[in-house]
Amino acid sequence: MSGASSSSTPPNGVLQNPKLSALGKAFSQIDLDGHDMPPSPAPSSPRPGKQYSIATQLVYSEGNDQYNASSVPIYQSATFKQTSATGGVSNEYDYTRSGNPTRTHLEKHLAKIMRAKRALVVSSGMGALDVITRQLKPGDEVVTGDDLYGGSHRLLKYLSTYGGIAVHHVDTTDNAAVQKVITPKTAMVLLETPTNPLIKIVDIPSIATLAHEANPQCIVSVDNTMLSPLLQNPLELGADIVYESGTKYLSGHHDLMAGVLAINDEALGEKLFFTINASGCGLAPFDCWLLMRGIKTLKVRMDAQQANAMKIAKFLESAGFKVRYPGLKSHPQYELHNSMARGPGAVLSFETGDILLSERIVETAKLWAISVSFGCVNSLISMPCRMSHASIDAKTRAERGVPEDLIRLCVGIEDGDDLLDDLRSALVQAGAMNVTLDGIEARNRTLEQEDPPEGEIIAAHAAAANEP
Ligand SMILES: Cc1ncc(COP(=O)(O)O)c(C=O)c1O
Repeated sequence: MSGASSSSTPPNGVLQNPKLSALGKAFSQIDLDGHDMPPSPAPSSPRPGKQYSIATQLVYSEGNDQYNASSVPIYQSATFKQTSATGGVSNEYDYTRSGNPTRTHLEKHLAKIMRAKRALVVSSGMGALDVITRQLKPGDEVVTGDDLYGGSHRLLKYLSTYGGIAVHHVDTTDNAAVQKVITPKTAMVLLETPTNPLIKIVDIPSIATLAHEANPQCIVSVDNTMLSPLLQNPLELGADIVYESGTKYLSGHHDLMAGVLAINDEALGEKLFFTINASGCGLAPFDCWLLMRGIKTLKVRMDAQQANAMKIAKFLESAGFKVRYPGLKSHPQYELHNSMARGPGAVLSFETGDILLSERIVETAKLWAISVSFGCVNSLISMPCRMSHASIDAKTRAERGVPEDLIRLCVGIEDGDDLLDDLRSALVQAGAMNVTLDGIEARNRTLEQEDPPEGEIIAAHAAAANEP
C-alpha cells in the first residue's frame, strides 16, 4: 500500500482528502465498496519521485488515520469485525496474529528506512532468526561465524542437534576460510558484522557472491543489529535477508523486545510472513507503537553515541590498552568497514590482560551499568565471556579466540567527558592504570600484544573455567 495521496482515492479505497479536513469531517468516508469505515493508518512510504535523506525518513511518516493523528494509533485489538458472514471483501484485517494496522504502519516505515521492498516485525531479534532458520530443512547446511552473538549460537546448536541441519562455524572475516566450507549444499549463510564482541568485520559483498555462486538459492542473511539501517544496508551489499534486534538501536531505550526482518524478494517475503503468521510471533500493537517512536530518534541518538564512543576508544588506545573499534585507524579492517558502512557504531571492546582486573573495573564504574545488550541511550559495560556469551562453553570461546578478560563498552548519549571521567576513575581504582609524572597509562600494556596462539588460549581459558 502506498502513501495517502493529497487528493482522490488512496489505495485502501477510502474517498478522502486529509488536507480538506473540515469538509472531510462533515461527510462520512464511504469507501469504494460502500462501507463507512475508519481508514487504516497503514501507509508510511515516501511519495514517489522524491528520495529523502535517512534523517528525514526516520521521522517522516504518513497515515490516513481518520483524525490525522500525528502519532500512529495503537490498534489494541485482537480481532476486527467483519462486514458479512463470509468475511467481507474490503476488510484488510481480521485477526492481529495475521495483521494489525499499527504493525503494518511500522513495517511500511521500516521497509522505507531499510531500503527494502518489505519489512516484517516480530517479538524479538531471536524470533527473527527463528523465522529465518525455519526456511531450512533437514540435510541443509549453514555457514556462519565463529564470533556470533551467544543467542544465535544457541539456536544454531539446537538446530544442529535436533533439526538435522549441519552448521559450519568459521571465521567469516576470512573469505578463504568461508570458501572452504561453502558448497552447493549451503542453503544459508548467516553473517554478523561487526562481530560481537571481537568487533571483526565481515566482507558482505564477497561472501554473498561466493554463496550465490555455489548455490544460487542460498539465502544470505545479515544480522545488522550492531549498526542499524542508519549506518549499513546489507540488502544493497548482496544479502537476501537483513534482520535486526529491534531491542537495540532501533528502539534505543531498552523498554521493549522486537525483531525486524527486511527483504527485496517478494516470494521470500511471503515465506517469512507465512512462518510469522503460522507461529504467531508478530510484534504486539503496543510494542509496534513503542518501536515506531524509538525509530524517530535513531539518528540523533546514534550520532551522539558514536561521538562518545570515538572519544572513549581514543582514550583507551592512547593509554596503552588493546582496543577493538572500527572507528580507529588501527583497526585491521578499517578500510573494509568503511567501504560498507557509514559509521563505526558505538560498541567497542578492550583487553586489560587480567580477568580479575576486568571484573574490578566493571564493578567499579558508576555511570556504566553492568548489563548485557547494547543500543540503549544509557552506557553499558560487560564482560561478554561472563554474560552475553556465557551460553557458549569456555572451550569453544577459547577456540574462537575470545579473551576472557575482554570488556565490552556500549556507549550511550550521556556527556562524553562524564563518561570518560567515570571510566578513568574505575580503571585507576581497579588498579588497571599506573599514575606517573607524565599522566596515567595501562598497567598491562595490551596494545602491543598479538592475539595468543590458539593452543595457549585454550589452555588458559580451560584453567580459568576450572575445566579438565
Ligand atoms: C547481534 C545480536 N543479534 C541478535 C540478538 C537477539 O536479539 P533479541 O535479544 O532482541 O532477541 C542480539 C541480542 O543481544 C544481538 O546482540
